[in-house]
Amino acid sequence: MQDLLAAGMADDVRAGLSAPAGAKRLSCRYLYDDVGSALFEAITGLPEYGLTRAEERILKTAARPILQQAGPCRVAELGSGSGRKTRLLLQEGNVSRYHPIDISLSALAHCETLLSDLVPVEGIHSDYLDGLSEVNIRRGDERLLLLFLGSTIGNFSPSEARFFLTAVAARLRPGDLLLLGADLVKSALVLLPAYDDPIGVTAAFNRNLLARINRELGGEFNLRLFEHEARWNEPAGRMEMHLRSEIGQSVRIRALDLLVRLEAGETIWTESSYKYVLPDLQRTCEDVGFRHVHTWTDTGWGFAELLLER
Ligand code: AVJ
Repeated sequence: MQDLLAAGMADDVRAGLSAPAGAKRLSCRYLYDDVGSALFEAITGLPEYGLTRAEERILKTAARPILQQAGPCRVAELGSGSGRKTRLLLQEGNVSRYHPIDISLSALAHCETLLSDLVPVEGIHSDYLDGLSEVNIRRGDERLLLLFLGSTIGNFSPSEARFFLTAVAARLRPGDLLLLGADLVKSALVLLPAYDDPIGVTAAFNRNLLARINRELGGEFNLRLFEHEARWNEPAGRMEMHLRSEIGQSVRIRALDLLVRLEAGETIWTESSYKYVLPDLQRTCEDVGFRHVHTWTDTGWGFAELLLER
């Protein structure tokens, strides 16, 4: 079992690419195979993509008070990331064990290599909510500090985010803590280059989704015929990534026995990154059963880290 996603991916790709012109989409979950994860890691170092550095700045000063608030605890994390931000937190605390939760086995292995010198790492190979239930089975009486960093929550629409946070709250016990990182609404002049950088790393990250379909499902996409497009959808409060077919074409995906028809200029929507207005997010968290403990913000970029208590 290399990847819990492999099974669902074929069905999702079929459904997403069988839609009519203008309605085709692929889930951003599939952006993160090994190549995609490496490209995302490169994105976090781009001067135009300030998000990750902003969160790191916050965690440099907030890690100590957060772990003080937590006291002796177990830490779990939704997604295992690069481990860099988690390290800032784990090194400040009285942490008995760390549970990264991820659908990618290689991401879990990487995370364990990076952090096991600090604290015992016990990865959970699962999706977020099932993994969180699994942590509960393993942890006894300890208080839990749950990390959901990097504005991954931005991949959910506001109603999905509310639903998700409700489900998270239901899996925590009173007194448990959630540390939630969220990117804030900011100028399109800042957002657009962050998602369409001039050296084309984000374009490669986006195109890799089609490359992955070629590799894993016998797709025949010619990647040179697709342009990366980043849009700021202001009314919806989200950045969108699309792949635009430069010509009318039909593309075979052998493992699906599918022929995908694309009109010239038609796009496949591959990701949404919602940007938050802080009071709205705080209210949502309180609505679904969290007490707001503290929010740290990075004003240079516009990023917020919320510490919430169940
Ligand atoms: C990892 C989902 C937070 O939305 O900013 C980066 C992914 N997409 N550049 C984001 C991403 C394009 C990133 N998240």
